[in-house]
Formats: sequence, structure tokens, C-alpha cells
Amino acid sequence: MGERAFTETTQTSKPGLALPVDETGAPLIVHTSDLTKAYGDFVAVDRLNFSVREGDIFGLLGPNGAGKTTTILMLLGLTEPTAGTMRVCGFNSTRDPLNVKRIVGYLPENVGFYEELTGRENLQYTARLNGIPAQEAERRIESSLAQVGMLEAADKKAGQFSRGMRQRLGIADVLLKNPRLVILDEPTLGLDPDGVNQLLDLIVRMSRQQKITVMLSSHQLHQVQQICDRVGIFVKGRMVAEGNIEELWKQTLKGRRLIIEVQAVPQGQQTVTALQGIEGVEAVERSGEMLLLSCNRDVRDKIAKAVGDAGAALLHLRLLEHGLEDIYFKYFREG
Ligand SMILES: Nc1ncnc2c1ncn2[C@@H]1O[C@H](COP(=O)(O)OP(=O)(O)OP(=O)(O)O)[C@@H](O)[C@H]1O
Ligand SMILES: [Mg+2]
Repeated sequence: MGERAFTETTQTSKPGLALPVDETGAPLIVHTSDLTKAYGDFVAVDRLNFSVREGDIFGLLGPNGAGKTTTILMLLGLTEPTAGTMRVCGFNSTRDPLNVKRIVGYLPENVGFYEELTGRENLQYTARLNGIPAQEAERRIESSLAQVGMLEAADKKAGQFSRGMRQRLGIADVLLKNPRLVILDEPTLGLDPDGVNQLLDLIVRMSRQQKITVMLSSHQLHQVQQICDRVGIFVKGRMVAEGNIEELWKQTLKGRRLIIEVQAVPQGQQTVTALQGIEGVEAVERSGEMLLLSCNRDVRDKIAKAVGDAGAALLHLRLLEHGLEDIYFKYFREG
């Protein structure tokens, strides 16, 4: 399916204005220009320019106080920018917050429910608030509860829900209005590893199966790395890098060495000398059972050959991945 078909499908199936496009023609669900928010003299968000493409899972990544929540509140039209503009689903959030609220689902940092009502009753309340007719509401409630795996728990009082259940009910709640974009503020905060994985799976399913664009904020690098198509790294109110993980990784690696882990038998001086002789290998160090090779490029093929030529057997060969963490700390320090 080409770009064109994709655009047409999403524009007919979900409400919203025509979207701005990027240089490749991809429709942009979120697009900001010099978006700025100051509280008195303090600039919480500083001339922010970024976009989220339709259909992507976008991660807004940054440490505490970076300005993630402030940005989200501006996108939703819940707080006014001091300067700059934005388009969300084609709408100007400042001038047209009602339209934005109608088609954007929002899961806040601390989702609130009526504790004395059951999960299902809470959803019924949301459906009424959104003016969804009763019969249609029932259908959507059952389907969202099923999607988040909460059908069984739905008749318990929300006050008895664990944090993971509350987050899943929060997503069911967000799905009720059939959103085109979902914004999740720190959705995995406070969940145990199992809860985190379930929620991430749910976010991916929601995005892929229902073609919902997702924007989530997080300071938890590994999670963002697992599910996001693109990330923006946000430090002290400024976007310091934006792109897919691969692109950011390449930028980060520029001028840096790669570390390749090698294990061979025997691993005596003869093997080490052979490895040191490979063009591109700058240093060989022992680390427990492994040899760590600092290289200026990926020479795994040459390593395999050199080990064999030295009469040794190769047990292990691995390029140590630089994760988002390296990227994040690089920008965090420089930002
Ligand atoms: N209403 C407000 N008045 C004054 N300062 C504020 C207000 N809201 C936020 N700030 C400040 O703006 C900065 C950005 O806050 P924000 O909540 O957007 O950060 P965040 O990236 O969401 O952080 P966290 O990861 O802790 O949720 C912080 O320094 C915060 O203290
Ligand atoms: Mg926040």
C-alpha cells in the first residue's frame, strides 16, 4: 500500500482537517513551530520544533523537569503557549481546543477515576461526557475493555485496582472516543516489569491494529527504545535530537569506537596478536573470559577469519550495542 492510499484511508476513517506534510510527503499529526512556554522568567519549553507522523509511535524522551508535560498540555489546548504555534490533527490547539479534545485521547501522568464506581461505570461516565449514544457506548466499552484485557475486572470498584489495572483502564477510557491520536504521559511509571511489558504490548497493538498515532513521554530509555518508531530527546525545554533510533545511534557513534566482544579457544598470545593485526582494531583488552576489541569500524568478518587462521576456534563474537542510553546521556550532558 502506497503513501497515498494510507493518507486517504486515515482521512476518511478518522475526523480531522487535512494534515500538514513533511518533506517526504508523510502526513503530520503533530507539528509545532517555535512552541514556547514561560512561567514568569522561567522558560519551561523553548522554541520547540518537532513533528509526529501519522501512524507512528513517537517517544518524547527527557529527564524530570524537561518540559514534557508542559508540551503535552499545550498540544491538548489545556495551557496556552507564550509564543509559537502548533497543529494537532490539523487543528490549532490554542484556537480550537474543543476539536482537539474531541479526537485526541489523553492519559495524564496520574489518571483519576471515581474510586467508588466500577471500572465499567467509570467508562460509562466518560462515554456520557463525550456524548456517545448509549447503545454505541455499550459496544465501545465492551470492545475497549476486551482490548486492554480488563473484561473480568471491569465490575470491581476502581478504588481496588492496582496501578497496572488503572493504566489499562485509562487506555480503555482513551479508546472510547475512537481517537486519531493518543497522548500518554509517562504511561509506565510505577509499573512492575510485567506490567510495563503488558502496557507496551497494548500500546503497540493499539497503534498497529487501529492505526492510531501514539505519542508518549518517558524518561525510561529502554522502554522507549523497544516500541517507538521515532524519538525526540528533550532536555531543559529544548529538543536536542530527533529521529529514529538508528539515525540517532549513528550520530552518536560519529568519531567513537565500536567495542566487539570475542571469545576463542585457545585464547593465548597467538590469538591476541592475530586480532591486534587486523586493520581497524585499535586495542585488545582482556575482560574475564572475553576479549574486548576497540575498533574504528565493524570488523567482525575479519575477526572470525583471523581467529581461524591463528588455529583457534571462535566461541563468541558480538558487537556491543549502543543503546538509547548512550544517545540520551550524550545529549543530556551536552544539552
Ligand atoms: N504551573 C507551573 N508554574 C511554574 N513552573 C512550572 C509549572 N508547571 C511546570 N513548571 C516547571 O516547568 C518545568 C517543566 O515541567 P514539566 O512538568 O513540563 O516537566 P516534565 O518533563 O513533565 O517532568 P517530569 O518527568 O518530572 O514529569 C519544570 O521546571 C517545572 O518546575
Ligand atoms: Mg511530566
